[in-house]
Amino acid sequence: MILVTGGAGFIGSNFVLDWLENGATGDEPVVNLDALTYAGNLRNLAALQDDPRHIFVRGDICDRALVDQLLAQHRPRAIVHFAAESHVDRSIHGPGEFMRTNVQGTFTLLESARAHWTALPEAERAAFRFHHVSTDEVYGSLKSGAPAFTETHPYEPNSPYSASKAASDHLVRAWHHTYGLPVVTTNCSNNYGPFHFPEKLIPLMIVNALAGKPLPVYGDGQQIRDWLYVKDHCSGIRAVLQGGRLGETYNIGGWNEQANIDIVKTICALLDELRPDPAGPYARLITHVTDRPGHDRRYAIDARKIERELGWRPAETFDSGIRKTVQWYLDHADWVAEVQSGGYREWVEKNYATRTT
Ligand code: NAD
Ligand code: DAU
Repeated sequence: MILVTGGAGFIGSNFVLDWLENGATGDEPVVNLDALTYAGNLRNLAALQDDPRHIFVRGDICDRALVDQLLAQHRPRAIVHFAAESHVDRSIHGPGEFMRTNVQGTFTLLESARAHWTALPEAERAAFRFHHVSTDEVYGSLKSGAPAFTETHPYEPNSPYSASKAASDHLVRAWHHTYGLPVVTTNCSNNYGPFHFPEKLIPLMIVNALAGKPLPVYGDGQQIRDWLYVKDHCSGIRAVLQGGRLGETYNIGGWNEQANIDIVKTICALLDELRPDPAGPYARLITHVTDRPGHDRRYAIDARKIERELGWRPAETFDSGIRKTVQWYLDHADWVAEVQSGGYREWVEKNYATRTT
């Protein structure tokens, strides 16, 4: 049994599905603790309805009594901690919830895990893991031509989101050094793939293009991200959970640096091929808008440590992954329509209304 937090979100739901589909882990049930914020969606897990290997609990990671009770009841051998507020733009509009979930929530989980782990019999204590899922954004922004982030790169978070994740990474580190809690941390680059909430770049561009709406590129669009197909992130987490050294951090990335504008053009070209628009090429919808405040210019992950120690490399190329992703959104118009609820529309209004072109 493992306890996953945030398993109804984009990466968490992919992870739960992947875990239960995978031959090596599929027999091991998952308790999934998720508050179902705007970003959590049980439809992502529809394939697991009535599957006894998946126990869903709606709840908040800041609720210490609930977390204590789940650990006592299910005695998981590991916690894989995804739950977070994850959207940089939302953190700029309202940082408070990021501090609560990402910092206070991680603190609550660590304290609950520590109490639970301390009381375990020796064999279970030795096997227990707290896996903290984090981001490359904690390292800050890279200059053009600078080497990619290694695990020893200084922490230089620049947004309320990345600062809150950096704080959570530091808590996890301290709980290992001070209390001996058996932790591992992974810092991953930008994910994309199925169930990606359509306020993030790639799914937003797909759904806006299909609706004939502008494709809002922040600033000059030359900001660089290192994109990884979400299933590769899931396999990287499994590798670290299984074989990662205690107290260590592992960077996970796609060896795939691309400028935002090129990502958007690739999506447009794929849509031109797969769902041509009689009105003309989708690239006509590209619109440069006011930049994100404090926008990090470049992220790039050096993923050699996880490859050297654990033999992990991404399986998907960007060409194959982005094609699968665009096709997934074309095939799941019902999923998109459902998440584009009233709350989603309010967010789009808030984030884009004040941006000029
Ligand atoms: P997401 O926003 O899609 O999902 C977050 C999930 O956490 C949602 O299901 C939400 O309901 C849940 N949640 C939020 N607050 C909660 C709370 N207080 N208690 C319980 N559940 C709560 O996020 P994601 O993109 O799937 O990211 C998952 C994790 O991976 C995050 O920790 C994020 O920092 C990290 N990460 C994301 C990326 C990326 O590209 N998306 C890359 C690297 C690391
Ligand atoms: O690097 C990992 C991080 O990637 C994760 O830790 C975050 O949880 C995840 O949200 C993601 O953060 P980004 O800020 O990089 O993702 P986002 O999809 O919001 O933006 C990707 C790039 O695209 C970024 O440079 C901003 C730009 N962008 C985004 C939106 C929503 C636009 O140009 N236009 C847009 O409308």
